[in-house]
Amino acid sequence: MRVGVLTGGGDCPGLNAVLRAVVRKGERHYGDEIVGFCDAWDGVMERRTLPLTVETMRGMLPRGGTVLGTRRGSPFDHPDGVELVRATMRDMGLDGLIVIGGNGSLSVASKLAAEHGLPIVGVPKTIDNDIEGTEVTFGFNTAVQIATDAIDRLHTTAESHDRVLVVEVMGRHSGWIATHAGIAGGAAVVLIPERPFDIDEVCDRIIRRHQRGRFASIVVVAEGAVPKEGSIDLADREIDRFGHIRLGGIGNLVAEEIGARTGFETRPVLLGHVQRGGTPTAFDRVLSTRFGVAAIDAVHVGAWGHMVALRSDKIVHTPLTEVVGRTRPVDLTLFENVAEVFFA
Ligand code: F6P
Repeated sequence: MRVGVLTGGGDCPGLNAVLRAVVRKGERHYGDEIVGFCDAWDGVMERRTLPLTVETMRGMLPRGGTVLGTRRGSPFDHPDGVELVRATMRDMGLDGLIVIGGNGSLSVASKLAAEHGLPIVGVPKTIDNDIEGTEVTFGFNTAVQIATDAIDRLHTTAESHDRVLVVEVMGRHSGWIATHAGIAGGAAVVLIPERPFDIDEVCDRIIRRHQRGRFASIVVVAEGAVPKEGSIDLADREIDRFGHIRLGGIGNLVAEEIGARTGFETRPVLLGHVQRGGTPTAFDRVLSTRFGVAAIDAVHVGAWGHMVALRSDKIVHTPLTEVVGRTRPVDLTLFENVAEVFFA
């Protein structure tokens, strides 16, 4: 078979490991030719490709980012986008296309497969871990480890200065990274999009902690966390279309408010894209490899319109139509029964 592959959306540790696995099983086991498209859907519409072979993928297992490059656009933003994708696949003699992406790229893949009959298989990717239909996405474990390492370091500086450090982590729609890194890093409070917060409650917790003689605290905030209505005066703040604070972000705002309301010296720390960079953890290398092997197997059984996924540690195929347009929220049992036990 001749099989195309692309990486879409934000980059994520493990993308190259998935590509390597697709190529390895495709070439050696099935005798496939794998064609990589550069820069996600742009590369498909513009026919910009990179031949992927076992030789060219050597050394890619631990490499962060994606050798194919990635973008956030969609063929549906382009007047002839769908026809361009169809024409590329036809003219290049492609029997199938593997789309490795997050909620955005998988929505495009789902629509192209379900409504336009294109032979596409999806692979769920995001550090945010917020894709429905799979218990975990690759990249998440690495991001949590990076955030946890940062929090470990922040404890010692917070303790030396008797400070409150507010650490903003990624997660615009879900608080998976915040919850896991908060538990792993021993945070005094974790704020997530799924649970709008009351800033006075946050301050009370930190004050009580200080009264017990703990003068340093780490507060972990997911970038999509929002205050309860009326809890913070947002009059001067610019709000984006998701209701999130623009300019400076929620981490800065929470740090400012804690400082002003408690009088404790408080600093914000924005981890940003460092959480997406660099080498994947061993867990993510294994998961990426399993997903890559499963994706090329899925192509060979014609599982079009499905995504490979992990459930109870088994690889399954999930219909993309059941997954897209939804966000997998944090497991609130984990948040309430475990993370909150350690809140100040
Ligand atoms: O979806 C992954 C993610 O890293 C989110 O956590 C974050 O909100 C977003 O991408 C950032 O996107 P960009 O790299 O385009 O700024």
